[in-house]
Amino acid sequence: MITLSHLEKKYGDTYAVKDLSLSFPDAAITALLGPSGCGKTTTLRMINRLIEPSGGQVLLDGQDAARLKPEALRRGIGYVIQQIGLFPHLSVAQNVATVPDLLGRDRAQTRRRVDELLALVGLEPSVYRDKRPAELSGGQAQRVGVARALAADPPVLLMDEPFGALDPIARDEVQERFLNIQRELKKTVVIVSHDIDEALRMGDYVALMQSGQLAQFGTPDDLVRRPASEFVRQFLGDDANLRQLAGVPVRQFARPAGAGEAAGLPRIEAATNTRTALALMLRAGSEQAAIWDGETLLGVVGFSDLVRAEAATLPAVTPPATGSSR
Ligand SMILES: Nc1ncnc2c1ncn2[C@@H]1O[C@H](COP(=O)(O)OP(=O)(O)OP(=O)(O)O)[C@@H](O)[C@H]1O
Ligand SMILES: [Mg+2]
Repeated sequence: MITLSHLEKKYGDTYAVKDLSLSFPDAAITALLGPSGCGKTTTLRMINRLIEPSGGQVLLDGQDAARLKPEALRRGIGYVIQQIGLFPHLSVAQNVATVPDLLGRDRAQTRRRVDELLALVGLEPSVYRDKRPAELSGGQAQRVGVARALAADPPVLLMDEPFGALDPIARDEVQERFLNIQRELKKTVVIVSHDIDEALRMGDYVALMQSGQLAQFGTPDDLVRRPASEFVRQFLGDDANLRQLAGVPVRQFARPAGAGEAAGLPRIEAATNTRTALALMLRAGSEQAAIWDGETLLGVVGFSDLVRAEAATLPAVTPPATGSSR
């Protein structure tokens, strides 16, 4: 477990991070969310000591990170930065294999693993493994960065806007792939994002920061439905529920129905996220849609199902207390 205890970073008279106490649960993804300049990157870089705190502590499984050798510490922590920093003279495969090679792991095994990881991040190994970083787009380079961080198989992964350079469609796909592998790998992941949709979708937990401090820590549901302050409510926006639906496939709401009932209804693929499904229903001018998994009819979903599902499974939103500033 990574625990921050009264963590602080001061530049001159100003705090980039101030009195930040927070634990990142093991084997879960925590999204570190907040507006630009609120201290996300600074916090992340204090965890692996790329930045030394001016006060407070980082505890890794109870051990003070300040007492660990930075090199030893970083070996157990994968780190993905936005400006990826691939080695320009090495091929994609060599870049991904950097740490396993350094650790003297079996070559053939590493080569297989590299191909697996490239496929995982959506880069066809036979096409990309021998390319140089200069031949990649920004988004492709970012994916290589994610594959490289995973290749070392560290128990902890720190990711600073790892999908920032991807277009929305590629981002959806890579996020989905990442969530799928996380279900198996169960790493402790801290992912920095200023993208609310990404945080709600990827995070088992969300830590929302405001001006170097913690505004709220909780599940996505906690933040959406039980915002701790006006800042949290405003940051997530009035469409927070819709944003949350973007993280849920519409198949979850399908009501079993026969071919007769589905006939003539707009067709939506089961994996479509529920927000998009709603948009498609609005566009089709239909209050219902048929949910298909390829050639299999899963059922029918209607506006009323979605409204009822919201009301039934999720407690009502309590309006935040007025006058609170954080
Ligand atoms: N080396 C530095 N010297 C002085 N101030 C700094 C330094 N690094 C960061 N800061 C300040 O600390 C604050 C937090 O910066 P940080 O990079 O952690 O923000 P962030 O939340 O990651 O923002 P973004 O979403 O834009 O990446 C900012 O106000 C920034 O200007
Ligand atoms: Mg940053």
